[in-house]
Amino acid sequence: MGRNTKKRTQTWWKEAVVYEIYPASFKDSNDDGIGDIPGIVSKLDYLRDLGVDVIHICPHYQSPQVDMGYDISNYEEIHEPYGTVEDVQTLIDAAHGLGMKIIFDLVINHSSNMHKWFQESRSSKSSPKRDWYFWRPPKIDADGNRHPPNNWRSHFTVPAWTWDEVTQEYYLHIYAPEMPDFNWENKQTREAIYNTSITFWLKRGIDGFRIDTVNKYSKNVSFPDAEITNPKEETQPAWRHYNHGPRIHEFLGEMKDIFDQYSALTVGELSSFPRTKEGVMEFVSSRTGPLNMVFNFDISDLGQKRKPGQKGPVPFDVQPFKQEMSRWQTFASDPEGWITLYLENHDAPRSLSRFGRDFSLEDQTRVGKMLAMIMATMTGTLFLYQGQEIGMSNLPRSWPIDEYKDIRSVNMYKRAQQTCAGKPECLARARDDLWKTARDHARLPMQWNMGPNSGFTSEGVTPWMRVHDDWEQHNVELQLGNSSSLLEFWKRILKLRKEYKELFIYGAYKLVESQEEDLFIFVKEGPERKSLTVVNFSNSPKKWEGPSDILGVGSRLLLGTTGGKEGDVLNAWEGRVYLKSS
Ligand code: NOJ
Repeated sequence: MGRNTKKRTQTWWKEAVVYEIYPASFKDSNDDGIGDIPGIVSKLDYLRDLGVDVIHICPHYQSPQVDMGYDISNYEEIHEPYGTVEDVQTLIDAAHGLGMKIIFDLVINHSSNMHKWFQESRSSKSSPKRDWYFWRPPKIDADGNRHPPNNWRSHFTVPAWTWDEVTQEYYLHIYAPEMPDFNWENKQTREAIYNTSITFWLKRGIDGFRIDTVNKYSKNVSFPDAEITNPKEETQPAWRHYNHGPRIHEFLGEMKDIFDQYSALTVGELSSFPRTKEGVMEFVSSRTGPLNMVFNFDISDLGQKRKPGQKGPVPFDVQPFKQEMSRWQTFASDPEGWITLYLENHDAPRSLSRFGRDFSLEDQTRVGKMLAMIMATMTGTLFLYQGQEIGMSNLPRSWPIDEYKDIRSVNMYKRAQQTCAGKPECLARARDDLWKTARDHARLPMQWNMGPNSGFTSEGVTPWMRVHDDWEQHNVELQLGNSSSLLEFWKRILKLRKEYKELFIYGAYKLVESQEEDLFIFVKEGPERKSLTVVNFSNSPKKWEGPSDILGVGSRLLLGTTGGKEGDVLNAWEGRVYLKSS
């Protein structure tokens, strides 16, 4: 167990706590109902006091906001309601001044259709930028009807090709039609992308990037039809063809050369594929990989993905959670490997709602502390998403459909209205599925205080998304300084994580098997100590037993979620960490 631990290098970014900010929903400083950069600056002290080392800002660049800024029309300008380039420079400098680092989102699989490059590309077949995106002629059937070049489906449920009248060709977009995919095969395009999106900002002092869709730049450019998984549908999922194409490592290698010049931190979003140890190692190996770490989706998919043939998402279950957590902890114990630890981001429903199953408002804090305890005592770089630290949960089921603003939700529901026409139960089921999987949950305004709009924006202003109904129970003001709050628990456990970093961050992991399915027990071993984390992932008390070598003489309770009780019964959602010096 100790062998690998010794060889692993220790680095600041492995020890860092990264906090993700969704600019539209964090803090509005000018009362237009939309969060902004000065709003973020005003909360930097709060973040530093929480224990944050790195801030990740979701896209804040100029954008028509079809996909909340993941559709960029100018990489060197800022979305107007968020502020200016000068505001962003102030943010970078202020974060640095407080000893925090800052990383931006790098969204370069596609641009907005309003980017000047796409405008030029679509203007004529002979445009010098024609080849910067993928343009293809239609397929014409025996009756003379026009069809897209292949059957690929985009992530937002429409065909992945859109017809353009101007030059009478289709262009590719694996997301919305307003988000055309760049043609990475063209070297000139790649260089232009690197200059405008990477170098431009690294020169201004940022410390790295969260890299969007990192495995999608190289595609199968012969564009074959995807295998037919549902013969009733015209389009088919095609992720095999646009993920992890033959040149992906060549492209990432080029990017790495730039990142290395600035010692930039890199964390890639590795969705869909590959999910094996070898597949992920290709991306993150400290010897040969292009990135520091990736977000893979094994944990974040739990409770919200479908299995073929199953109606609705597979409900959350503790067993796969333990398995997946253990699988990736083992991966991280390889001296060449490293992982991210995260339960939430701007694309996922809230962890409390996904993992906590049946709990009351009161339980919310207990579940939050239990999840915090698991995360803070595991190996990996820890990522927190805004509001997670105060226990924000999914938007209420009773809210009307027009409170869902995300393009994915809107399209899903439109589609359901068509396929469920005249079948109210079918539509109700689709609505329920949408609630379980919607990205909107994470995008509600941050709950700062007991005042109007929970302090996100001023009284009388309508925020761009409605404030959660539970804001009076869950907000920063109420929790700050309250020793039994989730926020103060996070602060405390993040401090302990650093104090005992040899154990919690770098220690070797071992799952302790338990008869009781709802108990999650694991040991971490460092050079001088061992720890044992035990949590009850259920709403009823559970008797438990742990290994006597850690719980015997010389062991002590380091932290408990319910104020340090000992004994062999864990209450609903209770968690404890024990420490034993060797
Ligand atoms: C992943 C981002 O996290 C998501 O929000 C976005 O819709 C897609 N990539 C497209 O950029």
